[in-house]
Amino acid sequence: PRVLILGAPGAGKGTQADRLTAAFDLEHITTGDALRANKDMETEYGTPREFMDAGELVPDPVVNEIVEAAIDDADGFVLDGYPRNESQVEYLEDITELDVVLYLDVAESELIDRLTGRRVCSECGRSYHVKYDPPAKEGVCDECGGELYQRDDDTEETARERIRVYEENTAAVVEHFRETGALVEIDGEQDPESVFEDIEAAVEAHT
Ligand code: AP5
Ligand code: ZN
Repeated sequence: PRVLILGAPGAGKGTQADRLTAAFDLEHITTGDALRANKDMETEYGTPREFMDAGELVPDPVVNEIVEAAIDDADGFVLDGYPRNESQVEYLEDITELDVVLYLDVAESELIDRLTGRRVCSECGRSYHVKYDPPAKEGVCDECGGELYQRDDDTEETARERIRVYEENTAAVVEHFRETGALVEIDGEQDPESVFEDIEAAVEAHT
């Protein structure tokens, strides 16, 4: 299946996309991870870092190119972090069709807490949370022993700006897929296991 997962910063897209890719043997296409791996790449617009550390969107042509190459190589995928505005929606709809669009609904008041408490494994990329999903040993990944770090954009100030940018640009993307009828709303405030059960059922119903 070709799955798109939408949701505000911190809604749990990455957490759920990891489970989904494992359960259905899909590619995880994530513009956030792809950009973080190339933060200092020179483009005609500057480096991704200049935008990301401020919580702003990286210019569309840079992101569109990443997604197009990844989708060309994938059979089934979970797309996470893209599209983030209406122009990216148009680009995506020209290059592929989607089977289902999931929207993780989480109240804004929860998001800041989730973002500022997130810790990420520097080796395998798994996300933890200091309160909601702490590792057995502080600062160390349960799965691979890698060191955990905090993302540069997970400060409270940048997290707030990311949520503002989401409301300004990306909320319209959710509305777009609501209008096309593809959107399945998932209650993202449940525990991760229950969120995943709902997601699994939605994907199975649409493929
Ligand atoms: P990106 O990496 O995509 O960040 P984001 O959209 O802000 O999403 P996050 O990764 O922060 O959150 P998530 O929803 O994946 O949550 P997670 O599962 O980790 O983008 C970063 C930047 O790159 C952008 O700001 C922009 O600059 C640039 N960029 C990326 N794509 C772009 C594009 N298309 N166009 C232009 N620019 C682009 O969970 C968060 C935390 O909550 C974790 O600690 C987790 O453990 C915890 N958690 C998860 N689920 C639950 C739960 N059910 N209950 C309790 N805690 C939970
Ligand atoms: Zn790890």
